[in-house]
Amino acid sequence: DALRDFVKGLPKAELHLHLEGSLEPELMFALAQRNAVAIPYETVDAVRAAYDFSNLQDFLDIYYAGADVLRDERDFYDLTMAYLKRMAQENVQHVEVFFDPQTHTDRGIAFEAVADGILAALDDGERDFGITSGLILCFLRHLSEEAAFDVLAMADPYLDRILGVGLDSSELGHPPSKFARIFKEAGARGLKRVAHAGEEGPAPYIHEALDILHVDRIDHGNRCLDDPELVARLARSGMTLTLCPLSNLKLCVIDDMAHHPLKSMMESGLHVMVNSDDPAYFGGYLTDNYLAVAQALNLSRDDLAVLAKNSFRGSFLDGTAKARHM
Ligand code: ADE
Ligand code: ZN
Repeated sequence: DALRDFVKGLPKAELHLHLEGSLEPELMFALAQRNAVAIPYETVDAVRAAYDFSNLQDFLDIYYAGADVLRDERDFYDLTMAYLKRMAQENVQHVEVFFDPQTHTDRGIAFEAVADGILAALDDGERDFGITSGLILCFLRHLSEEAAFDVLAMADPYLDRILGVGLDSSELGHPPSKFARIFKEAGARGLKRVAHAGEEGPAPYIHEALDILHVDRIDHGNRCLDDPELVARLARSGMTLTLCPLSNLKLCVIDDMAHHPLKSMMESGLHVMVNSDDPAYFGGYLTDNYLAVAQALNLSRDDLAVLAKNSFRGSFLDGTAKARHM
């Protein structure tokens, strides 16, 4: 339809996408077969039927299990390339994507296989589709800070090809302050810093991400709305919040898309933009996420164009490149 074509045609960037969350059931089956890995599903439909979550942890349990089919460099290449191919069809021109190395190294996969596969696909994605990209290494917050230091050491030879570090996985009980030292170290190495904060966790976790981790972006950030002074601070500083509407609905962060805070956040002057988070698990890629909020919140085409501009403004592209896209 006309609105879908409009959104599809807008030049867009995606800044909150977990590569492991773009593993479609079809590719999961193909990799299970290729690598002779048993998976607890009979059919692709059975996989999709299992994607019924009541909270973040419910999802994470299934997401980490699904990643078990990823075994060698080619698997990570195929995963990344499949995502970029889809993005090329939606006029997504720049992506800053997350990966969770600990999910793989903790089951004996070499860091090099993961990183080499992803980086080769990102290179080919730029060559074949003109999509520029950055790679963000996420620390799993349910694990220790010491484990995060171990993965940063593994990444050491790759740091010139890694844009930044992030913080993801189970938020409640694992506040940003737990990772103060590793984020300080990452900053000292010239890496950008982002963190999931205020998805399920409370507004004080967003304060910690700002004041203790010194993040350059907040991933999600929905719960800032519980704290008007925090909203004012985020708006004043122009901090980008990477919202994920379909994710919020699937993980019961909101009970209805009509209650998504995106529109009121825009009206409060927050720099919000739209992302897909884990599209293979939440039922939609970037265009679908724009359309979901557009329809539920009655967004105008001007609103959608602002969101698309914000996606470049919030990126880590340099000023010249941003200007070229906006
Ligand atoms: N890992 C993948 N998706 C995530 C999300 N939405 N929140 C926290 N950790 C994640
Ligand atoms: Zn996420």
